[in-house]
Order: sequence, then C-alpha cells, then structure tokens
Amino acid sequence: MCGIVGYTGSRPAAPLLIEGLKRLEYRGYDSAGIAVEEGASIKAVCRTGKIAQLEQSVTPLHLTGACGIGHTRWATHGEPTEANAHPHLACDGSIAIVHNGIIENHGELRRILEERGHAFASETDSEVIVHLIEDAYSMLAFEASEEDDLTDAAGMRVPHTVAAEMSAGEPSLLAQAVGMACGFLIGSWALCVMAEFEPGKIVCARKESPLLVGCGADGVHVASDVTALAGHVEQACVLADGQIAELDAHAFNVFAQDGEMLTKVDADLMVLDARMDAADRGQYPDFMLKEIHEQPRVIRDTLEDRFDGTRLTIDELGLTHEELNLIERVYIIACGTSYHAALVAKNLIEGWARIPCEVEVASEFRYRNPIITPSTLVVAVSQSGETADTLAAIRDARIKGAKVFGITNVQGSPVARESDGVIYTRANKEVAVASTKSFTGQIVSLTLLALLLAQSKGRLNQGQIRLLFSELVDTAAQAEAILRDVQSVKEAALACKDARSAMFIGRGMGAAVAEEGALKLKEVSYLHAEAYPAGEMKHGPIALIEPGFPVIAVATESPTYEKVLSNIQEAKTRGAFVVAVATEGDERIGQHADRVILIPKVRDALSPITAIIPLQLLAREIALLRGCNIDQPRNLAKSVTVE
Ligand code: F6R
Repeated sequence: MCGIVGYTGSRPAAPLLIEGLKRLEYRGYDSAGIAVEEGASIKAVCRTGKIAQLEQSVTPLHLTGACGIGHTRWATHGEPTEANAHPHLACDGSIAIVHNGIIENHGELRRILEERGHAFASETDSEVIVHLIEDAYSMLAFEASEEDDLTDAAGMRVPHTVAAEMSAGEPSLLAQAVGMACGFLIGSWALCVMAEFEPGKIVCARKESPLLVGCGADGVHVASDVTALAGHVEQACVLADGQIAELDAHAFNVFAQDGEMLTKVDADLMVLDARMDAADRGQYPDFMLKEIHEQPRVIRDTLEDRFDGTRLTIDELGLTHEELNLIERVYIIACGTSYHAALVAKNLIEGWARIPCEVEVASEFRYRNPIITPSTLVVAVSQSGETADTLAAIRDARIKGAKVFGITNVQGSPVARESDGVIYTRANKEVAVASTKSFTGQIVSLTLLALLLAQSKGRLNQGQIRLLFSELVDTAAQAEAILRDVQSVKEAALACKDARSAMFIGRGMGAAVAEEGALKLKEVSYLHAEAYPAGEMKHGPIALIEPGFPVIAVATESPTYEKVLSNIQEAKTRGAFVVAVATEGDERIGQHADRVILIPKVRDALSPITAIIPLQLLAREIALLRGCNIDQPRNLAKSVTVE
C-alpha cells in the first residue's frame, strides 16, 4: 500500500514522478505529493485525492529540478488530508521523505522528538522518520566537521558535506543518517530521502516494504514496483531488507548495515519482465473489463508447456517426484480473492490427490499455531506477491520447517523470492483494483498443482490426467463464448442495481464462486453482499430475504445441482429475486429463477473458471449503473503491504 517513486538525472523530475505515480496509483489513491530540488531548496506539493489533482497543481509551477521523490498514499495513520500527505519535511524544510509501510513505535518516537524541539506538521506515523534523520544528520555532520576540522580560505569552518564529496563506495552522511534513523524504527518501511545539502542525491532504505532501483539512459530511478520503472530501466535491483541505496544522477550504490557502519554490497540485478509494463486499456472503457476479457488468454498462457501428452511438469516447483510423493498435508494461505481461489483448490487437491488440504486466511494462520511437519506443503497464493499477511505467514511456515511454494503474478516479488518454488500465473500486469484475471490464473495454476500431486501420488492415471488437462485447455474457448454474449448479465444488473444488499449462494465449487462473486460486488458497486453455502441459508441468513431481495445462485451442473435448486426455491418462496448462473441446456432453472445466465457445460471440478466470469461482469455492470469508479474503488489499494 502506498506507492513511492524517485528520480535523479538530467531530465526535469516532476513529470517523471507524476507519470510514475500514475502507474502506481493502484497502490493507494487517498492523496499524493512530490518533492523536487529547485535550486538550493526543496519544493514540495501535496494534494488529496488522485494523481490527476496533484498534476493540475504541479503543472503551473514549472518545476525544472532534476532530482525528486513522490508518493501516492493509502491512509493508515491520519486521515487523507493535505497535511498528512507525503512528502514530509524536516523542521527547516531541508530534508524530504516519502514512506511506504508502518512505523509501529511512532507514538513513543514522536514524544521524544517533540521533547527535543521538533515540530510535527502531520498526524502520520511516517513523519517521525524525517525528524529522526534530521537529528542523526546534525549529529554526524557535527562529528565529521570536528574530525575533519574543515576550514575555508578565510579560516571559517565549512559544512562537512560541502567539502567532503562522497568517494566511490563510501556512503554519504545522508545515507549514514538514514541508516542511523532506521535503527530506531520498529515496523516496515520503504523510504526515499532527499536533502538540500546533498544535491542530486536520493537515499533509499527498505525493510519489508518493496523498493527497486535501476539505472536508465538519463538518470537513476527508484520505485515501489516494476510498473513505475518499466520503459525507464531494463534491469533493477530489488533492495533486500535492511539495505540502503544511494543514488546520484549516474549510478547507485547499495549498502548493508554492519553494526554502526554501512558496508557496500553488490547490487543484485534482475532483468525486468516486459509483460509487467504499464498496461494500456486499449479499446476498453476500464481496466476491469479489459482484464475480464483477457481471461481466455490467461488460461492458455498459464497452461503452456505444462503437459507433454504423457506427463505433467511444473519445473519451477523445485520439488522432485519423490518429495512430492512424501507430502501428506497441504496448507494454502492467501487473502481476499486469492483465498477464494484457494477454496477451489482445496476441493481439487482432496478430490484428486486425496491429500488433506486446509485453506486459511493468511492473517489468521500466522497468529495460530498450525500443525506443520516436514511432510506439510504450504502454498502461498498472492497476485501482487507482496501482501504483508501472506508474507508473514510464509516466513512463519518456513521457520516451522515447511516447504513453501508460491503462486504469484509478479516476477521477483517477495512471495516469489521467499518461497522454495514458484508458479507465475502469467496473467500479466493487473491494473484494476478488483482482481479478475489473476483469480483465473490462480485457479488454473492451483488446478495444475492438484493434478501434479495426484500424478505423483498415483491417484490419477495418465489417461485421466490427459483428459482433465485437455478439458482445462477447453475452458479458454468456453470463457470466450461467455464473453461474446453478455445480454443476460446486463439484464440481471439492471434488475439488481437499486438493491441495498444481495446474497450469493452455491454448493461445493459453487460455494467458492459465490464467495468471489460477492466480494466483487462489494468492492466495485459498494452494494452489501454476503455469500453462503446454499445449504447454510436456512440456518440464519434466510431471515434477510424479503420481497425483491436479490439472491445470486451458482447453479451449474454438479452433483449437488438438485440441492441448489431446492435452496433457490426456498428463497423464491420468500420473495427473493433470483439470478441463476446455470449450464446451457438446463431447462428447469428458468421455472425457478427470475433471470438466468447460461454458460457452457464444464466438468464441475473446472466450473469455477467459467462460472465466475458472469459474476465479475455482473459486479462491474451494477457498479457502472450506480456510477462507481470501476478501476479504483474507494478505500481500497491493490497491494496490501500493511498487516
Ligand atoms: C479483490 C482483491 C483483494 C486481493 C487481496 C490479496 O479483488 O484484489 O481481495 O485478492 O488483497 O492480494 P494478493 O493476491 O496480491 O495477495
């Protein structure tokens, strides 16, 4: 959450920073700001709301400085006001910082700093950082000038930094001050810092929140993620926890804290994946619709090169056939939409591989004491690969001795780097905050994993795997067919748009699809929605039903179809307005549902891949009719890097 960018080079920084922030806007859009070096001082501009607001304020200022930092905020501590927007400045305005993360001990630090005379301008946790750096810098500069006894021609003492140019490989005083300040912090941070007395430099630091640095043709760039670097640099260094980087217009050095010293370390460069470039909406009115339409391609790409007609392979897994065979229990940990993909996988892993599989929300998993043995495989599912709770759960599982396998969409993301093996979902960059195509990529990847486990355990034979794989491939064409005819979805949306609440029901695979359908509706249309396994409705939620109350039922062909039909009737009897997602050729459903959305016949085990599509479209359509912001729903951010 929150996106940060920085640039130092030969071009005006402000337009580059704004462009970078636009690309990172999905990480938070409560407020935004930039700080640019203008002559001998730092000029900061902050605005509440979207980057467009900031851009309008910056344009007339004609900022020309070639070094700057920027931030787009998802508010945690302090309301989304201009005062709480980043960059935050030191008391005398000589240092500016942008921060992503949470400083847990900010209350105590703030009290101490205020006692020392620092004046705070915001309610944020982040502001303590700039005041700590200010103090650390003054102390280091004083010590250095005492040591060096620097004097000018007239015998007057001159500031250390004016005289002491950073020699190759030596950290500047600012970098040392940042290192020292970080030593007082508890929490997580990705930081960019600039100071009037270190012109043309940016110092960055990282703990738990992502930060990448790369050299381009006309300067050095830093950003929270690859998206903002794409097109500017070809390779980037993903800073590791505890590292500090110092950038000037031509190069950057990376340092690790070594006691009180900063020691230069080699920068570990990664080639950027061109597919993660800033995406283009093309002919679509919003990214969500574009990404829904990309799902057939995601299915095909995710399945490419996985089955040679005889055996299924996932080389990235990093587990041998023997190791796979030893797995006796699977935990899948994830959040939000990724958690719903995991619910689908539980049915497949238990059904096909006959391995007990538990699915848990990452934020709960890590605070329990789950039973993990050497034969437990922990699978972490995360589109962004940087969800704080999922990462914490991975670390916890590894400490307990589990093998951790990541399923993510982002190359080089923390989930990818901290897992023993990884499958990339090949969804490419997902921009809309509400996940759609990455859900599909996750289900397809998890289906492959379930098949692989079944293959290793000898629970499915070659012929069965071949058949299932070919049906999996077929879902791409079936998804295309659904996307060609959306009239029934539009009609259902019109009928539901004025509701205040809706219930989603389904059984088995349909229950997981119902969960995801309800989440999509809540996120993009702000309409309250609840999902229940259809059989649970009579145990309480049915009390909510009154005439006209929308019940969205996943009633595709499955072993529990008859039961779902009965549940639909129970709702209908009480006046519900029923929208059913059902299988083509189903002639009975029309007698019970008010609106029917038909989808091609797919085996029940694979049905979530296609059944979710009408529900994604329904949520978007209702949101459109209600005038909501489709790609950037209120209060949300795409990467959830706080716990
Ligand atoms: C919903 C959505 C969120 C994410 C959740 C986990 O549309 O996008 O619920 O699924 O925040 O994010 P990742 O998958 O990046 O770990």
